[in-house]
Amino acid sequence: MKQLVVYSSRSGNTKKLAEFIFSRLDGDKEIKSVDKAPDPAGYDMVAVGFWFKAGQPDPDSQKYLKKCAAAGGKLFLFATHGSAANSDYAAIGMNRARELAAGAQIVGCFDCPGEVSAKTLENAANKDPQPVWLKDAPAAKGHPNSDDFYKLAEALAEAGLVEKRQPPEKGMFV
Ligand SMILES: Cc1cc2nc3c(=O)[nH]c(=O)nc-3n(C[C@H](O)[C@H](O)[C@H](O)COP(=O)(O)O)c2cc1C
Repeated sequence: MKQLVVYSSRSGNTKKLAEFIFSRLDGDKEIKSVDKAPDPAGYDMVAVGFWFKAGQPDPDSQKYLKKCAAAGGKLFLFATHGSAANSDYAAIGMNRARELAAGAQIVGCFDCPGEVSAKTLENAANKDPQPVWLKDAPAAKGHPNSDDFYKLAEALAEAGLVEKRQPPEKGMFV
């Protein structure tokens, strides 16, 4: 099975998830940033990672997700965001990604908070109105953390992309 991990990452959070996924996949695999990503049609499974901007996948990832939709293969979606884990806001962003990729076979999804830089926090605080996610952003500090990687490993197993490791212990990922 030819597998490709594609990520868009401005400050490194989503790249960490991408590298973790890449390290867990067995067999034929490649990892590329979205600006260098090949046509998804050449792969059996593509994992696409993005960061949230304006409540949805960042613009480069939006374009790539549309290509994945056209290719119609297996797709795993992953993301980081300043908003809280399991928040409605995060769910809306992931649903937007699903819509963009409609046509692909989505085998799994994972998203978690990602630390927001001080400069971004300052810029967002100066906006009027302030973005909805700003109130959650301080809690994203330190994410993705070992608990997030643990959950990502579970999501990959759930999607059938990796074998379940026994016993999957919390704290084993750093
Ligand atoms: C310009 C900008 C806009 C952002 N907009 C959102 C947003 O709409 N919703 C959100 O949850 N997080 C937002 N964030 C926070 C990032 O999505 C979050 O920090 C993410 O982990 C960054 O990923 P990266 O390190 O891979 O670039 C924004 C960050 C930036 C820099």
